[in-house]
Order: sequence, then structure tokens, then C-alpha cells
Amino acid sequence: MQNKKMIFSGVQPTGCVTLGNYIGALKNWVKLQKEYQCIYSVVDMHSITVRQNPDELRERCRQFLALYIACGIDPKESILFFQSHVSAHAELSWILNCHTYIGELSRMTQFKDKSAKHEDNINAGLFTYPVLMASDILLYQTDLVPVGVDQKQHLELARDIAIRFNHLYGDTFTVPEGYIPPVGARVMSLQDPTSKMSKSDPNPNGYIWLLDAPEVITKKIKRAVTDSDGEIAYREGKDGINNLLSIYGAIVGKKPEEAVLEFEGQGYGILKTRVAEAVCEELRPIQEKYKEISADPSFLDSISKNGAEKAAEIAEKTLRLVQDKVGFMPR
Ligand code: TRP
Repeated sequence: MQNKKMIFSGVQPTGCVTLGNYIGALKNWVKLQKEYQCIYSVVDMHSITVRQNPDELRERCRQFLALYIACGIDPKESILFFQSHVSAHAELSWILNCHTYIGELSRMTQFKDKSAKHEDNINAGLFTYPVLMASDILLYQTDLVPVGVDQKQHLELARDIAIRFNHLYGDTFTVPEGYIPPVGARVMSLQDPTSKMSKSDPNPNGYIWLLDAPEVITKKIKRAVTDSDGEIAYREGKDGINNLLSIYGAIVGKKPEEAVLEFEGQGYGILKTRVAEAVCEELRPIQEKYKEISADPSFLDSISKNGAEKAAEIAEKTLRLVQDKVGFMPR
């Protein structure tokens, strides 16, 4: 694996891949490919902590993988795979479960939020979800983990588990660092610009799906919630406008503070039109590539098969080491 530093990240195949995922994560992942050995996983095992329709889940997994590639993740450079295809994730997870305290897991805010939201299905998997995530990361001796702020607490736990394990059994895991994108990279909902653009928002007007048709994209942006003072400025309290400027800036490669200069003295209508044009332009080649990729299912199958083989090779090395450290019999 040369001497490149390792990057691991994963996305749950739930909801749909949005412009927020693209600007906040995928676009960045593409850039990291050259400098690092990147491993990107569609974490299907995580997604069943919430009840899923099996056929839809399979379809979404395919779609997510195709979209990653369409966005520029190069399967020749990065390892792309479905989490459930590498059994080491489940196996390490068990061992790490035995090294994680109930108290630690009870403090996870995502667990508290999700159990409030899914009161009828507070399953054990939902509780140990962060341990599976720690396994994902630690199996690959990951140096850097690009994640959103909402995953910071889980990442901290993965670090704590790694440190604890190393302390008990001697050096085993690389202790990973987070790689949290800057604030401007965070895309907010078009309907409620104080909360993050979510891929599971029940209101599709809140997000832009990467596969939305140009007319739909334009309509959603035109409907985006702004404010009534009419001034295009990037400052506190102007959440809707700030968001549009951030989106525009992220696409044209400017900070929102710079992007705003292009719109001095203009009305919101012009801003929205320009943002819509920029987004459509950015997504057009991605949508074309997506169409091409999905027309050939055998291509996707070969990518995921190949990715799983490469991932398993690295993961199993770590797993064997861990099994030995805890005292399991050699095979
Ligand atoms: N929990 C992450 C999220 O919901 C997804 C995830 C699972 C992940 N395993 C990971 C992210 C490992 C980074 C590294 O966003």
C-alpha cells in the first residue's frame, strides 16, 4: 500500500445523495485521492439499524456506488466497497464491543436522537453503531477520517477504543484523526437554512438530489427560503442567502465572502438564477456519467467485487493481529 497515509470514510445508503453530500464530502474525497490511499465504503450494515425495505436498500446501494464514481472517485486509485462484503467489520466489531463501555455508548448524542425518533425500534445495533464505525476505521489502520461535525463524537470514541486497546495489548491500531471540513463547506437545507441539508429530509424541496433534473433543481433553488431585507450580503442572520452564496462559492471555487462581491447591488432573483445555473452546470457531467455507469451493471459489480477483495486483504491482516492479541487460537 505504498507509503501513503490512509483515509477511510463511509456513507450510509439511506435517503439520497444530495448537493450537501457532494459539496461537504464527495468533492473533497475526490481531491484527497492523489495524496492519500483512500478507502470509501457504502456502509450498508450501519443502515439496517433503522428498518429498511430490502429491495430498496439494494437499489440504493447500487445507486450510491455509481454516484461516487460519477462524482469522480476513481476505482483505480481508491478502494470502493460495500461494508457487508468484508466480514472483518462484523468480526472486529464483536471484539471491540467487549472493549467498549455501556456508559460511553449511552452518552452518544446520535443514539439519543435516533432512539427518540424510532421509539418503536431501539435495537441493540443502534446502540453499538459507533463500535461498528470504530471497526470500519481501525481495520484499515486509518490516519485520517473525513466526516461532518455530527460524527465527531463517534470519531472520538473510535480513538478512545484504539488507545484503550493499544494500552491493554500493545501497539495494534493507528489512532485516527478527524478531518472536519470548514464551515463554508456545510450546505444547509433550502427550506430551513438553519439546519443541515439532509439526505433523509421528508420535504424534497429542502435538498437537491444529485440526480434531480435541471428544471427541478432550478425550481427548488427559486423556492429557497431567504429573508425580506433584500440585500445580498454574507453575514450572520442571513442564513438563506449565506447558504446560497456558500453553494455558489463551493462550485466556482470561491469563499462565500468573495462570491458575494459578484452580486453587489443585485436582487435575490439574479442570485438564485446564477446559483441554479452553476449547480446545473456542475451536475450535468455527473448525471451523464451516472447514466453511462448504470447502463452497465457488470461494471459496477466488478468494481465492488474488486474493492471488497482489496479491502478484505488489509482488514484481515488487522483482524488476525487483533485476534492473536486477545488470545484466540491460531488457525
Ligand atoms: N456514521 C457515519 C455517518 O452517519 C457513517 C460511517 C460509518 C462512517 N462508518 C464510518 C464515517 C467510518 C466515517 C468512517 O455519517
